[in-house]
Amino acid sequence: MRVLITGGAGFIGSHLSDAMIRDGHHVAVLDDLSTGSVRNLSSVADHASFQFVEGSVLDAPLVSRLIGSADAVVHLAAAVGVRLIVDEPLRSMHTNLRGTENVLEAASGHLPRVLIASSSEVYGKSRELLHEDSDRLLGPTTVDRWSYSVAKSVSEIYAFAYWREFGVPTVVTRFFNTVGPRQTGAYGMVVPRLVAQALLGEDLTVYGDGTQTRSFCHVADVVRAQIALLEFPAAVGQVYNVGSNDQLTILDLAHRILNITGSSSSIRLVPFTETFGPLFEDVPRRSADTSKLENLLGWEPKFGIDDIIEDVMGAALEGDPGMLLGRTPVSR
Ligand SMILES: NC(=O)c1ccc[n+]([C@@H]2O[C@H](COP(=O)([O-])OP(=O)(O)OC[C@H]3O[C@@H](n4cnc5c(N)ncnc54)[C@H](O)[C@@H]3O)[C@@H](O)[C@H]2O)c1
Repeated sequence: MRVLITGGAGFIGSHLSDAMIRDGHHVAVLDDLSTGSVRNLSSVADHASFQFVEGSVLDAPLVSRLIGSADAVVHLAAAVGVRLIVDEPLRSMHTNLRGTENVLEAASGHLPRVLIASSSEVYGKSRELLHEDSDRLLGPTTVDRWSYSVAKSVSEIYAFAYWREFGVPTVVTRFFNTVGPRQTGAYGMVVPRLVAQALLGEDLTVYGDGTQTRSFCHVADVVRAQIALLEFPAAVGQVYNVGSNDQLTILDLAHRILNITGSSSSIRLVPFTETFGPLFEDVPRRSADTSKLENLLGWEPKFGIDDIIEDVMGAALEGDPGMLLGRTPVSR
């Protein structure tokens, strides 16, 4: 396949690029390097079947030209991370809505398979075990956090509409917290941030009272699901949760990180409002029901939370833990 990966210089996209090149596909990456980096692509950059295009998904003619020569498109480009969304809600909306529309519009020309990256954020603050048809529970529009949730929900609706009305073979993947090497903690991602703090001997800052739960999935498992979905015809027109259903509290996560890194750092609770301002709402519980994906593909995560922490720690020790916190400038 000739695959276009938008946002391919980012965390998930770069691992997907590595895997697809390894599998013998041709990969083109379109990325504006706003949160991604060409460093992430160093293992494929010189490969004959790999092409990097620096540019934006907001550039409709460029998107159209690149999609014109692709058999498949994985649309990952987005403004991601609670920090970024709260600081720059307009940019987040603009990139996430118009970018998706540009991709789907261009795809309606010659109908490549399209995977649209969505997020567990679409479920909002629902406390249920989340399956694809669960009701969603969002807070008020005055709370910036929900702008990302709304933008991803509308992206999904676009994807289904382009499938029904124009026959664009789309698959929607709702990622839950995905973690692994190359993820930065600079925009609010909790595992790289806490691992870096542990390695640097700083307090591990846990927001709220730490009883909120999340389930973490290794990026290698997520990439495996993406490739299988791309190749599986029955997935078209459907939405799939991609994540782990092993939930743990953020306090438990912090303790595990202290154990695994051998750090003597302390855990410090920080009110959400201190970091994200007075208009912030957190999600108390988030756990994926992935039975739909398991029934289709026999997919289930191979890595647990301790494997994930070890991998993030290993990668940080090879480089500079400060980079995980966005303190060390990342060269493009
Ligand atoms: N990592 C997670 O836990 C998670 C969870 C749910 C959903 N997702 C979704 O998965 C996708 C990938 O996320 P990630 O974690 O790899 O984040 P990331 O920030 O590492 O990757 C996003 C990439 O998109 C690029 N980008 C941003 N705006 C762009 C634009 N206008 N044009 C071209 N490129 C642009 C960035 O430079 C970056 O390389 C996103 O759509 C995100 O919403 C991720």
